Amino acid sequence: MAAVAGSPRALGRLCPALLFLSQFYVLAGGESTDNPPYVTKCPSNGLCSRLPADCVECRTNASCVYGKPVTFDCTVKPSVTCVDQDFKSQKNFVLNMTCRFCWQLPEADYECSASTSCVTVSCPRQRHAANCTVRDHVHCLGNRTFPKMLYCNWTGGYKWSTALALR
Ligand SMILES: *[C@@H]1O[C@H](CO)[C@@H](O)[C@H](O)[C@H]1NC(C)=O
Ligand SMILES: *[C@@H]1O[C@H](CO)[C@@H](O)[C@H](O)[C@H]1NC(C)=O
Ligand SMILES: *[C@@H]1O[C@H](CO)[C@@H](O)[C@H](O)[C@H]1NC(C)=O
Ligand SMILES: *[C@@H]1O[C@H](CO)[C@@H](O)[C@H](O)[C@H]1NC(C)=O
Ligand SMILES: *[C@@H]1O[C@H](CO)[C@@H](O)[C@H](O)[C@H]1NC(C)=O
Repeated sequence: MAAVAGSPRALGRLCPALLFLSQFYVLAGGESTDNPPYVTKCPSNGLCSRLPADCVECRTNASCVYGKPVTFDCTVKPSVTCVDQDFKSQKNFVLNMTCRFCWQLPEADYECSASTSCVTVSCPRQRHAANCTVRDHVHCLGNRTFPKMLYCNWTGGYKWSTALALR
């Protein structure tokens, strides 16, 4: 789980190009001309900036400073269509985003796997390993799936207050 540790300040010193590339699906050849696998995840004719990350490819911006807004020049993948604020169809668009890694997002922006190893009641509160995945429309740098230590819930199905009352 050491991968989640690290200083946000380190971001500026890392190579943004490499980091950004890993955000998006890299289609390494063999792409079907009929139905590329990502198409089912890409809603047609919505705002380009709201497309899931799998639907677009973006060029990196070297002036990415942690926590600061940054813009990326993006292109929609083949078979994907989207519009700008004036409902004009676009192939290329500018994406506004905050410069930060996926694992630095607020909790509301990702979903984590549930624990199978949590002890129902334990003090101090136990923690468990989980894999978290960023919600489709949220844009961020780095791996969209990342490990995280989460606190176990004290109660497994019944309320803590109920457990006390039953004693
Ligand atoms: C990089 O982002 C900055 C800040 O948003 C912007 O001013 C600049 O034009 C962007 N550069 C590129 C190449 O997109
Ligand atoms: C991106 O941000 C700039 C400056 O804050 C703004 O002018 C532009 O409309 C924004 N674009 C989108 C697609 O939100
Ligand atoms: C713990 O409970 C919260 C709220 O009831 C829930 O959202 C979360 O998924 C639970 N976590 C686990 C690991 O079960
Ligand atoms: C997280 O994902 C990795 C790779 O898919 C897997 O090996 C690992 O067991 C997963 N961990 C949890 C806690 O689900
Ligand atoms: C992203 O994380 C997953 C699970 O932790 C791992 O299997 C995968 O290799 C990582 N991808 C990249 C590009 O680092």
